[in-house]
Amino acid sequence: MPVNAPSSTPLTARRGAPLRGRLRAPGDKSISHRALILGAMTVGETAVSGLLEGEDVLRTAAAMRALGAKVERGGDGIWRIRGVGVGGFAPPAGVLDFGNSGTGVRLALGALAGSPVSATFDGDASLRKRPMQRVLDPLAKMGARLLAVAPDGRLPLTFQGARDPMPIVYEPPVPSAQLKSAVLLAGLAAPGETTVIEAQATRDHTERMLKHFGAKLTSKPSGEHGRRITLQGQPELEPAPVTVPADPSSAAFPLVAALIVPESDVILEAVMTNPLRTGLYATLREMGAQIETLETRDDGGEEVADLRVRAGALKGVEVPAERAPSMIDEYPILAVAASFAEGVTRMKGLQELRVKESDRLAATADMLRANGVEVAIEGDDLIVQGKARPAGGGEVTTHMDHRIAMAALVLGLAADNPVRIDDSGFIATSFPGFVDLMRILGADLT
Ligand code: S3P
Repeated sequence: MPVNAPSSTPLTARRGAPLRGRLRAPGDKSISHRALILGAMTVGETAVSGLLEGEDVLRTAAAMRALGAKVERGGDGIWRIRGVGVGGFAPPAGVLDFGNSGTGVRLALGALAGSPVSATFDGDASLRKRPMQRVLDPLAKMGARLLAVAPDGRLPLTFQGARDPMPIVYEPPVPSAQLKSAVLLAGLAAPGETTVIEAQATRDHTERMLKHFGAKLTSKPSGEHGRRITLQGQPELEPAPVTVPADPSSAAFPLVAALIVPESDVILEAVMTNPLRTGLYATLREMGAQIETLETRDDGGEEVADLRVRAGALKGVEVPAERAPSMIDEYPILAVAASFAEGVTRMKGLQELRVKESDRLAATADMLRANGVEVAIEGDDLIVQGKARPAGGGEVTTHMDHRIAMAALVLGLAADNPVRIDDSGFIATSFPGFVDLMRILGADLT
């Protein structure tokens, strides 16, 4: 699909009144995908409340259905999944289309690797550009076979799961929770221990949920920043209810908007504060952001907090490369915050941003440049020169990337001149209702 497809919906953000009120971001995208996939691999009924009903997650729900699980949304908003058991997926009737979602396709490849069936995986133009080889390599070692694939290991591809999957010890060459999760999900069907040794710890929702469903798994520190995760294969997964907390990666957009629109005062409810997801929050606090934790509690195995955010002066900082896995999706919005900070912000070690829904390193730099912000890419680092108030006035190409779209709109809420994005449609992949919820806070989005 061309970037400016006839169906694209442009949107403009303008500076206006302070943002005020409360907002609860929708359910966490990572946990939502995992709840559907693990629910589909469990015998019995798994009830999921707070599931993100964004397009990415709905694609995963459809894929699990196509592979034989029963997946239904009740009138009460609770999703109920009747799984087929580990190794029990059925051959799907058609192509599994994951739309825009890298997490959906990579985790489903891992899950399917332990069932002796074949399926064709595909996605939209953005997903077809993203690397799949990184997941296919370890899954091949575990016994899965690639029957057909587009050049360079891209989608569409046809994949055959293993009849007798083998456990492996795997060291991912890149820090990626998707890659780790694919191997662990495949390891469920293998006899014995599957081990993943991460040089840098990435989000641990798969590990937490596997334990929640009764799998035997250990996770221990390894090296300075890593983890060694060992899963005992062929467990009896027990259905267990899942409550999905609010997504910190989505809450990041109203949060930064509240920091940079003068005199704003916003409460963000029930934001998940898993330390492997909160690098942005730590960074913003270092920049001087007023983010007050009002109340913390446990919500379905994850700690959540209500956060009060007030506008105020920010200063530039250096963000270390080791922090990247805990805020990998937050760089576009951090770069917007940095544009309003005093001094320079250097974000280090962003190579993985090049393979997201777009080349996010380039797209972030282009977005800022189009709006009068001084920005440079040096190697894998992004350097932003802040100023009190960027000019804005830019037209931003979103490249089918929801996070570029939302970051650009937040920039427009505080810049001197309006910011227009070419397409707001992809926002619904992760944050359905974003525009309406922001308008309730007072944002001028038309
Ligand atoms: C995700 C992992 C990250 C992140 C993505 C969600 C997950 O990707 O960017 O939005 O749910 O595991 P990588 O694992 O490729 O870094």
